Amino acid sequence: MLDQTKHQEALAKANQFILEHAHEVNKRSYPHFHLAAPYGWINDPNGFCYALGKYHIFYQFYPYDAKWGPMHWGHATSTDLIHWEHQEVALAPSEDYDKDGCFSGSAIEHDGKLYLMYTGHHVFDPNNDQVFREVQAIAVSEDGIHFKKLGAVIEPEEGIIHFRDPKVWKDEDGLFHVVFGKSNKNDEGEILHYTSKDLMKWDFVSIIKTIEDNAFMYECPDFFKLSEDKWVLATSPMGQSPDGYDRQNPAVNSWQSGTFDGKNFTPDTKLYEVDRGNDFYATQSTATPDGRRILIAWLNMWKLPFLNYQDHWVGALTLPRELSIKDGHIYQKPIREAASLRLAKYEFSKQECTLNSSVRALSTNSATEITFSFNPSENNAEQYGIAIGHSIRLFVDRQTKNLTLFRTDLNATSYRSIPISFDKEHKLQIFIDNSSIEVFIDDGHDAMTTNFFGQDHSIFAYATNGAATFKDLTVYDLERPMFNAPLFKKA
Ligand code: FRU
Repeated sequence: MLDQTKHQEALAKANQFILEHAHEVNKRSYPHFHLAAPYGWINDPNGFCYALGKYHIFYQFYPYDAKWGPMHWGHATSTDLIHWEHQEVALAPSEDYDKDGCFSGSAIEHDGKLYLMYTGHHVFDPNNDQVFREVQAIAVSEDGIHFKKLGAVIEPEEGIIHFRDPKVWKDEDGLFHVVFGKSNKNDEGEILHYTSKDLMKWDFVSIIKTIEDNAFMYECPDFFKLSEDKWVLATSPMGQSPDGYDRQNPAVNSWQSGTFDGKNFTPDTKLYEVDRGNDFYATQSTATPDGRRILIAWLNMWKLPFLNYQDHWVGALTLPRELSIKDGHIYQKPIREAASLRLAKYEFSKQECTLNSSVRALSTNSATEITFSFNPSENNAEQYGIAIGHSIRLFVDRQTKNLTLFRTDLNATSYRSIPISFDKEHKLQIFIDNSSIEVFIDDGHDAMTTNFFGQDHSIFAYATNGAATFKDLTVYDLERPMFNAPLFKKA
């Protein structure tokens, strides 16, 4: 067993810092019902699982500042995936193999204990963070809160740099599997597949994905069975170029379905984007005890200006989304537990829902859900949709035949579009949470997730140069469980 002293000291220091500084966070744009750090920086969700009687979510975490730094694992637990309780920091860099970060990974219950499998990141030259070594490492906990490190279990051959983000699962025969990303000696992305009987000794089995469209590395692969015969591979490929309306984000998160024979994955489609908004990356999924497959992601994006840096927090996780597959397409809709957030409900009459070159105020609440349907063939407005202050326009555009989510904040202006059929009715479900909007289109056929930065939360429906009907327009005020979510207790 590794000496745990350095790790325990690093954790105690991080926990103490959080307890002393959490009150300094300026919450003007802090999420009401999404999980964010009590202080500091979040990126990828890690270790998403149901274990020891609860849901656990961990996340890439720099607790000392609202910017990326040597990665720790933050931790929260929940019984319903909506109301999260902050827990003590689970992992901190402390050993030679993870001295520069406990990078992304996953979690699994085994023999009544919670195991974390993560990437240890070691930088050789303090002046050049691009010369590093990565290994897959294990930590274990008896109570699901306090973790001991067990050391590195999978190491790369000499000369390999990118080698990270293990996603572990157990098959029906009790054999453990893991997939993770690698950049091979020709700078081509690969996803490797290993198996193990005990989580400690791993054997290489196969490469389940090779290079596609110039991906030099596949970050955060996730691989799971979604229906009787279909598996899904979700990953965040690095190095692919923008293409029309696709892949416009600085970092793109994609998936594909296919068949898996235990060794080889045969995809039905190319990789396509999971979410079509601006700020969504590094998905991770888990199975619930009742058999649903739930996905969560980082609600942010690399290379953004991170405008709330001075508020002492940056980054959040998306709402958990339930996945399904129909006619070869992967659907994602907000988990049904999200309905428990609903407080007051406002239904708009048919007359109130038809706008003709006009605007209707819907809410000034920064924790809001909105649902409605529309049929482009029945509307003649040039543009119609929902606006939030000076920050967001979500609209149907007669000229391009797109549904567009436009962040109009002048310091981060940018839009994403999805072509939609103008011959049929469409349905939108929209969650607005202080500084983010998540839009689910046609029962989760598509989703668009974007952050915004303005403080004006006046929400309007509008139609420009013509008429549009917002059918069954309903607005809900939502509960705010995460705004003041309880902190862990002082040890
Ligand atoms: C993805 C990622 C992972 C890595 C982690 C580091 O956003 O770059 O590949 O493990 O973030 O924080």
